[in-house]
Amino acid sequence: MAKVIELNYSSTNTYLIEGSIGTILFDTGWAGTFTSFCGLMGKLSRKVQDIDYILISHFHPDHMGIAQEIANLKPVIVVMEVQQPFIHASDDIFTKDKQTTFYPIEDGKVKVVACRESRQFLQKLGIAGEILHTPGHSEDSITLCLDDGKMFVGDLNPLYELEMHRGTEIERSWKKLLKLKADTIYYGHAKTAVIAHKEGKAKGQKNTQLHTLVSRIIKYIDKGYPVEKIEKKTGADRMFIEDVNRMYLTHQNVGVQGILDRIEIKGK
Ligand SMILES: [Fe+2]
Repeated sequence: MAKVIELNYSSTNTYLIEGSIGTILFDTGWAGTFTSFCGLMGKLSRKVQDIDYILISHFHPDHMGIAQEIANLKPVIVVMEVQQPFIHASDDIFTKDKQTTFYPIEDGKVKVVACRESRQFLQKLGIAGEILHTPGHSEDSITLCLDDGKMFVGDLNPLYELEMHRGTEIERSWKKLLKLKADTIYYGHAKTAVIAHKEGKAKGQKNTQLHTLVSRIIKYIDKGYPVEKIEKKTGADRMFIEDVNRMYLTHQNVGVQGILDRIEIKGK
């Protein structure tokens, strides 16, 4: 199973995914964050040269800003075939900023991989999974899906907002992803989320603990209690309460199970 290390050195969540044979860096920060990136790698006792490939969720400036700067030290930028027309989409933003060093991606040095070949590509790194085209936030967005249920979705709109995006490309992309095993969702900016599976439902059981917790939260929402008070009463995570609250208030007649079906447990 690949090891995932979250790298916090910029406003973008980026990840090192270490397979049994090789390592992928998923996303990078904005131009100008290279020194912080190298410093953090050092603190983690990792060398930049240990990274084999850099995979970019989409070519917006806050995800590809230092990709080439890192690649200058050895790692190779992987561009999915569907992303090819977009790799220079953010260059203009950086070239206007004379204060910040920016290295445009060198087309001749990237490795192009088609989504249909992604499983074999990952296999060579000892990583079991695949890369899917998941447009919605942008046309070039891709998701790295590991077979153990970890998904790196970049800026795809969070799952808990799905109701707002019915009938759009965002919903189609999520449908594609949710057909696979999905346990942990790693976002480009939002907090990592763990999906609340309906454990034991096949046997007619419910995830009792969660069910009870959500019932209590709803009871207190009905009583008009503020989030702080519900937090104290139930001991539940504040963001979880806010999610339940939002779900409850925006979906008429939604029951406890309905909320559980739509919600993710955050902050794990
Ligand atoms: Fe973006």
